[in-house]
Amino acid sequence: MAFDVEKIRGDFPVLSRVLPNGRQLAYLDNGATSQKPAAVINRLTKFYSEENANIHRGLHHLSAEATFNFENARTAIATYLKTPKDCDLIFTRGTTEAINLIAHGLASELNEGDEIVITLMEHHANFVPWQLLALKTGAKVRYANVKDNGELDLDDWKASFNSRTKVASFTQVSNALGTVNPAKEMAAFCRERNVISVVDGAQAVPHGPVDLGDLDCDFYAFSGHKVFGPDGVGVLVGNSEILNRFPPYQSGGDMIDRVAIEGTTFQKAPERFEAGTPNISATIGLAAAFQYLSELDWIGAHEHETALLTEATERLKAVGGIKIWGEAPVKASVISFTMDEAHPQDIATILDNVGVAIRTGHHCAMPLMTHFGIKGTARASFAFYNNRDDIDALIEGMGKVKRLFA
Ligand SMILES: Cc1ncc(COP(=O)(O)O)c(C=O)c1O
Repeated sequence: MAFDVEKIRGDFPVLSRVLPNGRQLAYLDNGATSQKPAAVINRLTKFYSEENANIHRGLHHLSAEATFNFENARTAIATYLKTPKDCDLIFTRGTTEAINLIAHGLASELNEGDEIVITLMEHHANFVPWQLLALKTGAKVRYANVKDNGELDLDDWKASFNSRTKVASFTQVSNALGTVNPAKEMAAFCRERNVISVVDGAQAVPHGPVDLGDLDCDFYAFSGHKVFGPDGVGVLVGNSEILNRFPPYQSGGDMIDRVAIEGTTFQKAPERFEAGTPNISATIGLAAAFQYLSELDWIGAHEHETALLTEATERLKAVGGIKIWGEAPVKASVISFTMDEAHPQDIATILDNVGVAIRTGHHCAMPLMTHFGIKGTARASFAFYNNRDDIDALIEGMGKVKRLFA
């Protein structure tokens, strides 16, 4: 059966919203955060209406139930991601915290002169932690180039490796360009050289199932709020052996084994990296999001998103005067663009007037913008629940922008 986008839209209450100006919401800011299905919203309501308790420490029924649901969320999400047996799944606040956790842990492993390879298309969350790690350890960061069409320059990336390379961190999908990187090939390249691989999956998990066994990287990070789940929770899957070498990231309750005046011993991963009360409701809500995603027709969803990307790209080009940044051959449904005469903020304001929500600015990828010699772009980012009406509204709005500024 064909992918029924209207039926899917019915699962996401906010998508039927009519804005105060009378326009139907056309939500094209999915790269920033995704909307939530009723299954997730209802799960959060149920938790707070019926189940709220702290986990891992109470003997009463509610605490045992919350603990069970929290740990069940870990198992269910790990299963969805096809997490290999030699990995742990740690709950974090999001991708940013996950990458900071890894960089913090690696501070005890890197020495002066060691090297870290990243790329020019990284989000600041996968850029700044490595710069800070380099400052702390005396290591050096190398930045692999991005081609004019938004593709990663894989030859340059490979040429950035040498005998001092200890870590390589790269995004699977660029939030600013939509470029899909060959993450499996890149992780294999790292493995052959004994280099620790870190994959930023923040923009990949919302666009399709991820098979971490197949990807075979050392670390994989993403955020709950971008995968149709709640904010304030994220996931780090990491190689257990490496994780258990790391010192704790934060300390306090839950992550300890024994605390005494003479000294403290710590749990192993994942608890070692989950100090204090976690975001229990959001974690359980995230499991509901993955339950929803596991029932989605991903083949149909992918075809649908690809059709939206193709149509929106063609129709934007037809408006005239628009430059699209990032036309890599393999691309997720993200369109970054500028218009000669109009500032991205003017574009966003006019689009907002017709109900279209997009993002503008540097997209937390300032080095990439500098590389392209621009300050920022307007970005329309699609999810599987977007439809052709959303494209119609986008094109109507861009027509207005053109009439006003051209
Ligand atoms: C590719 C990428 N990495 C990391 C992040 C940071 O995610 P968060 O702010 O949820 O930690 C984002 C957010 O936009 C992103 O797009």
